[in-house]
Amino acid sequence: MLNSFIFVVMPYAALALLIFVTPYRFCSNRLTWSAYSTQFLERDTLFWGINPWHYGILPVLAAHFLGVVFPAPMKAFLGNQNNLIIFESISLALGLFALFGCVLLLLRRVNTPILKKVTFAADWVLLYLLAAQALSGVYVATFMRWGSQWYLHTAVPYLWSLMTFNPQIEYVADFPLVFKLHAAGAFLIVALLPFTKLVHLLYMPFRFLMDPPILYRWRSK
Ligand code: HEM
Repeated sequence: MLNSFIFVVMPYAALALLIFVTPYRFCSNRLTWSAYSTQFLERDTLFWGINPWHYGILPVLAAHFLGVVFPAPMKAFLGNQNNLIIFESISLALGLFALFGCVLLLLRRVNTPILKKVTFAADWVLLYLLAAQALSGVYVATFMRWGSQWYLHTAVPYLWSLMTFNPQIEYVADFPLVFKLHAAGAFLIVALLPFTKLVHLLYMPFRFLMDPPILYRWRSK
């Protein structure tokens, strides 16, 4: 029952929300289609949070996707013991880096009174969820060793079975609860994406790169 909910209901519900709510938000409330900046309210902790978070989580997610898109070359690559050890060590370091950044971003909001006024329920839910996701990922990587290898033989065929609308949950049904929570967290994040500032993931700021620099003038006290 729990397995069917996590591995069948959750992913398809998340996909449906992503597909139908995202265009609605884009058309109805385009001004919120980004992560609005709080840099002018607090910038020191932001720097130490946002950089580790993005530089950690993006390569980790890219590694998740590489396994799904190129399972055969990844199996061949990670079949070599040295490659596997190097790949796992780098992934773990990046996962810890992301976790550190995310916790700092959370503490920043908790400890800065002025930020609390511009932090809404959806922002809190998202930040806690991302921190829990990074924590469960690091837990799996640490205590269920060689995850990058067994992921290719279990989670990847399961994810492919989802994409072909023939969910085969036997691949993942017997995993420990922490892995199931990690998968459930991922589906929840996708489901919440169109309702939160995480929607900025879909916004490619190419034009922004061509904009002239903004000149800030600070009012002296
Ligand atoms: C929003 C989506 C997701 C995020 C943000 C995320 C995040 C993470 C993080 C931060 C790590 C730790 C990396 C490391 O220390 O090696 C990790 C590891 C892992 N994740 Fe995810 N994950 C997501 C989705 C998924 C999904 C859908 C699955 C499978 C169904 C999955 C399976 C794994 C596995 C097996 C590991 C361990 C890899 C290893 O041992 O190197 N993740 N994830």
